[in-house]
Amino acid sequence: MAELVPGRFTNKVALLTGAASGIGRATALRLAAEGAKVFAVDVDAAGLATLQDEVSAASGTIITRTGSIADHDECFAAVEQCVADFEQLDVLGNIAGVSRAEHFPELSEEHYRRMMAVNTDGPYFLCQAAIPHLLKVDGNIINIASNAGLMGTAYTVAYAMTKGAIVQLTKGLAMEYAKTKLRVNAIAPGGITTGLTNAFHIPEGVDLDLMIPYMGFRGMGDPDDIASLFAFVASNDGKNMHGSILSSDLGLTVG
Ligand SMILES: NC(=O)c1ccc[n+]([C@@H]2O[C@H](COP(=O)([O-])OP(=O)(O)OC[C@H]3O[C@@H](n4cnc5c(N)ncnc54)[C@H](O)[C@@H]3O)[C@@H](O)[C@H]2O)c1
Repeated sequence: MAELVPGRFTNKVALLTGAASGIGRATALRLAAEGAKVFAVDVDAAGLATLQDEVSAASGTIITRTGSIADHDECFAAVEQCVADFEQLDVLGNIAGVSRAEHFPELSEEHYRRMMAVNTDGPYFLCQAAIPHLLKVDGNIINIASNAGLMGTAYTVAYAMTKGAIVQLTKGLAMEYAKTKLRVNAIAPGGITTGLTNAFHIPEGVDLDLMIPYMGFRGMGDPDDIASLFAFVASNDGKNMHGSILSSDLGLTVG
């Protein structure tokens, strides 16, 4: 685990989605340990309860909210509660996401729409809800994209579409708010060992040659590899970054 920077987020409030597991959980633990008040959103109530215990045991500050970011009204309600409880919002971390691999013709409409709703609609509506508050404090947004949003990935076409949309959400917002102090950036992880990758199921009959480009040669990263980069970008250390799509992928997108 990269070293913590104590006090880096003192007096800052961070709303993080997907905080019950994987990258979101590692980010919540790191930001809380560095002084942030964390507002953690997830559908997984049990995972949020575990996170809350862990942050509280380390004398951190956290409020959790169980809800689905696939729902437009929930996105606005989550931001509203965060600002009501903590009186400000400095960092929005759009981290929650779902993934599924299938042969292209076989992905069901249900799975397609779920990926779109969680990975794309949720971040879009959370940005809409959060930006008025972020503008008051010169805050920032970090969207979690993926190497899949930057390259062709066989058998995960819909997932890659959602992550390509995250790249464009980031760039479009960065341009629209270029004359303000709001910063909008994205991090594009490669393979990270989390619940998402542990549950990743390779469909029968795939051509593994086509998957090698996004498996890479250097194995998997850890959630804190992304959490530590998130903390750097979201803090004043990242003040020069706006509209950046930052790969942290052990070289997956190099060639
Ligand atoms: N793990 C990887 O290899 C990898 C690589 C690139 C990008 N990513 C992205 O990183 C992000 C975090 O993924 P992870 O690997 O930590 O996975 P994870 O499964 O460990 O965590 C994802 C979290 O999102 C939550 N979630 C799912 N649907 C939700 C909803 N509707 N509303 C609120 N929360 C919801 C889950 O309950 C879970 O806690 C995702 O956006 C994912 O696409 C992951």
